[in-house]
Amino acid sequence: MIPNASSRSVASAAAKNAAWMAQVSAEKQEEVDQAWNFVTSIFEQRRRIRGDSVASAKIWGGITFFDLGLGGRICNDATTTAKSRRELSASHGDEAVVGAQGWRGLYLDMIKRSLTNYIYYDHAKDYETQYKALLQNHKDKRAQEMSDRVCEAGRCEAHWDINFSEVSFHGDKVPATAHTVMRLSCLTHIQMAIEDVIANNVHGDLIEAGAFRGGGAVLMRATMGNQMPTGGWRTVWVADSFEGIPMPRTAAGEVKDDTASWGGEGREEERYASSMENVKATFRRYGLLDERVGFIPGFFNISLPKAPLKSLAVAHIDADSYESVLDALSGLYPKLSPGGYLIVDDYHLAGVRLAVREYRAAHDISEPLEAVPSDHITTCSTDPINSMGDDWLYRNKKHLVTRVGAIGGAFWQKKRLSAA
Ligand SMILES: C[S@@+](CC[C@H](N)C(=O)[O-])C[C@H]1O[C@@H](n2cnc3c(N)ncnc32)[C@H](O)[C@@H]1O
Repeated sequence: MIPNASSRSVASAAAKNAAWMAQVSAEKQEEVDQAWNFVTSIFEQRRRIRGDSVASAKIWGGITFFDLGLGGRICNDATTTAKSRRELSASHGDEAVVGAQGWRGLYLDMIKRSLTNYIYYDHAKDYETQYKALLQNHKDKRAQEMSDRVCEAGRCEAHWDINFSEVSFHGDKVPATAHTVMRLSCLTHIQMAIEDVIANNVHGDLIEAGAFRGGGAVLMRATMGNQMPTGGWRTVWVADSFEGIPMPRTAAGEVKDDTASWGGEGREEERYASSMENVKATFRRYGLLDERVGFIPGFFNISLPKAPLKSLAVAHIDADSYESVLDALSGLYPKLSPGGYLIVDDYHLAGVRLAVREYRAAHDISEPLEAVPSDHITTCSTDPINSMGDDWLYRNKKHLVTRVGAIGGAFWQKKRLSAA
C-alpha cells in the first residue's frame, strides 16, 4: 500500500472514510450541513473576488463530505495533524521526503519544486492579495479582523505544502511556464505509487494518460532514477492527443460534463493543448528524455487499443472529460497488473466521477475507491489565522478540517492475486 506523505500507511484510508460516513449519522447531519453551507459561502466569496464559478464551487465543496466521505477523521492522519502550514511543510519536507530518502528524496523534492514552479518566484505578494481580499470581504467579523495579520510570521512565504500548485495562484489561467498543472499532493502520490510497485515487484510500465506539458510524466521518469531500479527498467508512456481535450463525440459525452465549454477566445490554454515536441522539450530540460520514455500520440479511443502496451503497474489518467476518462480506463485498466495502481485526477469534475463510477460498475470492480491522501483536506488547524481564513471549514469537538475543495484525485489498487 502507498504510504502517505509522512510515511505512515494509508491502508486505513478506506476505514477512515467508512468511519467518517458512520459519523455522518443523524445527529451529525447538522454539523455537516453547516460545513456545507460554509464551503458554499467561501466559494460565493471567491466568485465575487476572483470570478470562480459557483457550479465548480458546489462540486468542489460537495466532494469532501458527500462523495468520497472524507471528513474529521482524516485529521488523525499525521500529514494533516500539523497545526499550521509551516509545520506541515516542515514535516512534509524534512521527515517524509528528505530524512527518510536521502539524496534521492532531495532530488525528487527539487524536481517537484521545479515542476510546480515553486522555486522561481516569491509568492508572498500573491498570497497577501488573495487572502486579504478573501478575509476582508468575509461576512464573519473574525475573518475581517484577521486580514491584516494574514502574512505575519512569514506565513505567506512558507507555503511549500501539499496543496501547492502553480495554477492555484492564477485562478483558471494556466501560466505559460507551468510544466504541470497538478498539485504537489498529486505528484507525491504518483511518486509513492511508483515506489510501491517497484518495492513490491508489481509487473509493468507506467503511463501518464493526459500529459499536457509533460510535468507529471517527468516525475514518473525521475522517480525511476538513473540506476536500474529493483525489478528492472520500465517504460514511462506518455499518451496524449497533443492537441488538447477533444470535444465530445457522442450525445452522452455532451450531456455528462461541461468540458466542451472550456477554452474559447483568450482562454485557449484551458483545453490543455501542448505538442509532442513541447513535451519532449520539457523532458530534455530535466535531462530525462531517453529510451525509457515512449510516446503514444492520438485520441485515446483510437490510440490506446493499438498501443504497444503489454502490462502496466501505474496508470495515471488526467484527461478531464467524461469520454476521455472512460476511453482511457477502457484502454488501460485491462492491462493493469494485480497490485498496480489506477489513479484518476480531477475527481472533483462531474464527468470524471461519472466515468469512474460507470467503469467500475460495468466491470464489477470492488476494490475500494480512495481519495488521493491529503488532497482534499490539506491541513487541519484549530487556529483560523494559521489556516488563512478560507481554510476553516468544518469544526467539530477536536478538529477544524481545513481547505476543503482542492483539486482532487481518486485511486484504487488492483487486488493482488492470492497465493494458490
Ligand atoms: C489537464 S491536462 C493533463 C495535465 C498533466 N497531467 C500535468 O501534469 O499537468 C489534460 C490532458 O489530457 C489530454 N487529453 C484529454 N482527452 C484526451 C483524449 N481523449 N485523448 C488524448 N488526450 C486527451 C489533453 O490533450 C491534455 O494534455
